[in-house]
Amino acid sequence: MTIPSDRHPVRLRRSVLCVPADNARALAKVAVLECDAVIYDLEDAVFPEGKAKARAMLVAHLAEKRRPNLEVVVRINSLSSGFGEQDLAALVSVPVDALLLPKVESPQDIQAVADFLSDNDAPETLRLWAMIETPRGVLNAAAIAETGRTRGGRLDCFVPGTNDLRKETGVPDAPGRPYLVPWLMQILLAARGSGLDVIDAVFNDFRDGQGYEAECAQGRAMGFDGKMLIHPAQIGPANDHFGVEASALAEARLVIDAFALAENADKAVINLEGRMVERLHLDQALRLSAKATAIRHKGTRA
Ligand code: COA
Ligand code: MG
Repeated sequence: MTIPSDRHPVRLRRSVLCVPADNARALAKVAVLECDAVIYDLEDAVFPEGKAKARAMLVAHLAEKRRPNLEVVVRINSLSSGFGEQDLAALVSVPVDALLLPKVESPQDIQAVADFLSDNDAPETLRLWAMIETPRGVLNAAAIAETGRTRGGRLDCFVPGTNDLRKETGVPDAPGRPYLVPWLMQILLAARGSGLDVIDAVFNDFRDGQGYEAECAQGRAMGFDGKMLIHPAQIGPANDHFGVEASALAEARLVIDAFALAENADKAVINLEGRMVERLHLDQALRLSAKATAIRHKGTRA
């Protein structure tokens, strides 16, 4: 059975680790970490005076053999910062999977980079991710997400930036993120409306394991695909929380098996042990099962 879905085939993005591009020790560590994706950061993790050196270090690092099954993303500086064009020029012919654009506020912010990439013959496989981390970005999230559907739009994934959002709006950091949740859900809804993935924001206090686990559980319950991370200690719990629970997989198998029975071949809705189950539940079950298979093949925990 194939997975009928508007979204791309399952791509694991449970744990997405940020690595400052100018930190040689952190760069060297990536090869042994079990994150699904890495975001090498040229933006806020690098001081303006250090941008050129960081860019050169990153290009040299990316020329090395990467570990299999690692999605490689680079967060570049915005075009308006004065560093973005140099970042793009340096990365257009380097093997990376996606560029993460910071502080995206309008569809034009995506289109300008997509046009640069097309004009410079970047392969179609080079995708774009967008950080939604300003009030205007949140307000325009649906229109921004739509650029993923345009020709050459390249957009794959949204990442909310709660540190910038707090700074721009005055909402303080608080457990449970009560006043940020409505905006996070708005970003998530906009992403899903255009078939994009969406990754939950970073948790700064990397020594607070309990607080971090609670936020992972919250992010999963909100529907995020994974979490953006700042420290290696955060990878294991993210793989767990955004993985597939054994009970959910067993449940999915029941649904798949039930619809595979000859007697249900032409039924849109069935009675499964006293519960109504529809074909849309079959779609969900197949997607979950494909995710579990992807995790098994990867050989990481959860
Ligand atoms: N990626 C890879 N390795 C990392 C890492 C990261 N993001 N953060 C820490 N490490 C490594 C350290 O280099 C250290 O390894 P070492 O002993 O071989 O040097 C080990 O993990 C333990 O690190 P620790 O001492 O606990 O933390 P630190 O003081 O070295 O670093 C931070 C703390 C917050 C500065 C660091 O985690 C960091 O820079 N995170 C990413 C920040 C970022 O990208 N921000 C922008 C996006 S939100
Ligand atoms: Mg930011």
